[in-house]
Amino acid sequence: MSYPSMADASGRTLGAEEIEAVTRVLQSGMLSSVWGTEVRALEREMAEYYGVPHAVACSSGTAALHLAVAAVAPDPGDEIITSPISDFGTVAPILAQNAVPVFADVDPYTGNLDPAAVVATIGPRTRAILGVHLFGAAAELHEVAQAHGIPLIEDCAQSWLTRYRDGRLAGTAGTIGCFSLQQWKHITCGDGGLVITADPALARRMRLFADKGWPRDGARRHESFGLNYRMTELAGAVARAQFAKLPGVLADRRRAARRLVAALADLPGIRLPTDVDSHAWWLFPIVLDPPLSNRAVAEQLAAAGVPARAGYLEQPLHCAPALTETPVYGTSRYPLTVPPADRPPRYGPGAFPVAERLLTETLLVIDWNERYTDDHVDDIARAVRAAVST
Ligand SMILES: Cc1ncc(COP(=O)(O)O)c(C=O)c1O
Repeated sequence: MSYPSMADASGRTLGAEEIEAVTRVLQSGMLSSVWGTEVRALEREMAEYYGVPHAVACSSGTAALHLAVAAVAPDPGDEIITSPISDFGTVAPILAQNAVPVFADVDPYTGNLDPAAVVATIGPRTRAILGVHLFGAAAELHEVAQAHGIPLIEDCAQSWLTRYRDGRLAGTAGTIGCFSLQQWKHITCGDGGLVITADPALARRMRLFADKGWPRDGARRHESFGLNYRMTELAGAVARAQFAKLPGVLADRRRAARRLVAALADLPGIRLPTDVDSHAWWLFPIVLDPPLSNRAVAEQLAAAGVPARAGYLEQPLHCAPALTETPVYGTSRYPLTVPPADRPPRYGPGAFPVAERLLTETLLVIDWNERYTDDHVDDIARAVRAAVST
């Protein structure tokens, strides 16, 4: 059976609306968001949907996280606590601001940061917590962050319209929520990002950082250090058309996920997410109990034609050579050299066993898509049953 894929039109919601959007911008002759109207409209639509006063668009999810990290203003050598299971775009902005990524271990079933492990990791130089809502499951870190008075940046790249236990939208309980519009996300404009916040000072700082510190109030002056992370009008117009489709994308992904959860509920040896209607189902994760092995099961699923993989990442971020081996700037490993000898950053194999075990032994991810029919889901259910039972 062939599966819709986000790598082509079969698994994307790109259609007449996006074609009209691109045409509208091209015909206007204005492709830059500094003077155009599309990106500013996208920001208003995002802020309104999420019920927050401020949204700032930018050029990628990594850029969104960079705006957020820059806005919480770590001093060089300050620490930001984050998850070992995420895209490298989660840690790159920490390094880019000369701060130190400090990891904590994760929950064995969701792969999200374990709040108790985060608390144990807080130190005198902790400047922020950067939590990731992995695969679309809410990482409930806002209470811990609030209790310790530490800003919380929420990486919502995989969690459009995820809801916390209390029903609020993920991205709205922390200090800043960061979103991605990259090709493989729920909605896409190729590459793009958005940040949301309730804090006007942070919003202003992020807008300036995305535009070379230039306030665009008439004078050509640069108030603060910043880069060019602007979203183009072409991307913004496509993103607006996609954003209008987001509730439908989530409803369809949840419908298909509900069917698979029901079909596999009685199967021993596997753990499924339980929060079908608050999960965003970027991927469909399954955690296997031993002696089942994620590699063996993934191989069988792949042989059956199901788009599934073991582990999500080849190695957790705390084992990435970018952190364990290679220079960061020039020949120097600064800022990773800043932490004192009695508090070295914990990088390399063995540092976070729960995360490592998930990736190497227990976690299986199945590509998920709003275009899956009941037949696709039933095919996956059959293949998982067969693979787990042999
Ligand atoms: C959890 C997470 N964080 C950050 C990113 C970085 O986003 P982008 O690829 O848009 O820069 C991604 C996706 O690629 C992601 O999945």
